[in-house]
Amino acid sequence: MKTRTDLLNFLAEKYNLERYLEIGVQVPELNFDKIKCAIKYGVDPDPSARATFLMTSDEAFNAGFRNKFDLIFIDGLHTAEQVKKDFENALKVLSPNGFIVLHDCNPEKEEHTIVPRPTERGHWNGDVYKFACQLSSYEDFVTVDIDNGCGVWRNGGGYYVPSGSVWVWEDFDTNRKELLNLVTWDEFSTPLVQATYLFPNGNVATFGWDDQQIVGLQGQYSFGLQQKIKLHSDHRTQWNGFPS
Ligand SMILES: C[S@@+](CC[C@H](N)C(=O)[O-])C[C@H]1O[C@@H](n2cnc3c(N)ncnc32)[C@H](O)[C@@H]1O
Repeated sequence: MKTRTDLLNFLAEKYNLERYLEIGVQVPELNFDKIKCAIKYGVDPDPSARATFLMTSDEAFNAGFRNKFDLIFIDGLHTAEQVKKDFENALKVLSPNGFIVLHDCNPEKEEHTIVPRPTERGHWNGDVYKFACQLSSYEDFVTVDIDNGCGVWRNGGGYYVPSGSVWVWEDFDTNRKELLNLVTWDEFSTPLVQATYLFPNGNVATFGWDDQQIVGLQGQYSFGLQQKIKLHSDHRTQWNGFPS
């Protein structure tokens, strides 16, 4: 079964990401130490986490970072409110081609999402999902359905404006695939080799996959992460149109 660590290392290797920041480290041996980035910083107020910065994420971002990060993993305080703050602060120190990964976006049960955390023991995802749903209108945001749901934001250079919608558990539970842009590990990680577009007049055009763009008979088209995922999850042999 794939984990957050697999996902972070997949991104790090595929996109040559060098500078890594982890918000919420807890036990470094479980994830932080395994991340294959050359330069790594951790933030955690709990001394037992042995993080680079022994402070909360708010304190660390307020103090400022001298350089930008290519990969930021947000896994600290799991409330929608704090994750939104962490995300917005992370965007300010994210390199132009960087990624932000949010942990715990796809909780299995409502009882795991109660805020404030009812007890220090037991499984708790918090209500991170409420913030993740606000990002799903972006084509550069998908949630990979592994390890409690890992949301991936790719820095596309667009303006970030959260949708503001607030989803109650029942609606989230019924519509989580759409609300989170949920994709499997295979959909996320397997590159599309080829897609075919059927024009309304019956003509067929085959497009090659060049990772960053689709190159086809009609010219070159740039795609966001989500569109790529949709392409290779839904339209392996048939694709219904270009994004507007
Ligand atoms: C779920 S654990 C992190 C697990 C780790 N990232 C991993 O992948 O194994 C959450 C950690 O966040 C830390 N934490 C809680 N509030 C925080 C905050 N405001 N800023 C940074 N870290 C915080 C806790 O001390 C705890 O160690």
